[in-house]
Amino acid sequence: MTSLPPDLPPHIQRLREYADTARAKAYAPYSHFPVGAALESADGRVFAGCNVENASYPAGTCAERVALGTAVAAGARSFTRVVITSQHHAPTPPCGICRQALVEFAPALEIHAVAPDGRAVRWSLAELLPAPFTPGSLENV
Ligand code: THU
Repeated sequence: MTSLPPDLPPHIQRLREYADTARAKAYAPYSHFPVGAALESADGRVFAGCNVENASYPAGTCAERVALGTAVAAGARSFTRVVITSQHHAPTPPCGICRQALVEFAPALEIHAVAPDGRAVRWSLAELLPAPFTPGSLENV
């Protein structure tokens, strides 16, 4: 008997498809680890991103920050959830820099990582980034 992952809820499946479409455009010739991210704004828009690497390795950018920058450039500043996809057999969590980038705009963000077989993990950003450094951390210096 094979056990299959449970079906994703339709709103997560929809974001997964946006993330996968962006992932197909990933520029990852160095890591060979393409990633897609679909970020949903509070007003229901979806902004997708892929990782964009560079011959100068640290100049590369993650899928989540590409999605976030695209969203902010379109005027979105409040977000409900992000779905991240990769080709890895295990769901891919956001890196530490992306957690920090996201907390600026969405401290209560839901983060969903979906593996190719549909296995999904969900975290809150607060779980993944406890004691965050936020705009409030700069006050009253
Ligand atoms: N990467 C992302 O785009 N998002 C993540 O959440 C994890 C890592 C990218 C960065 C790099 O291009 C490649 O995956 C391997 O680290």
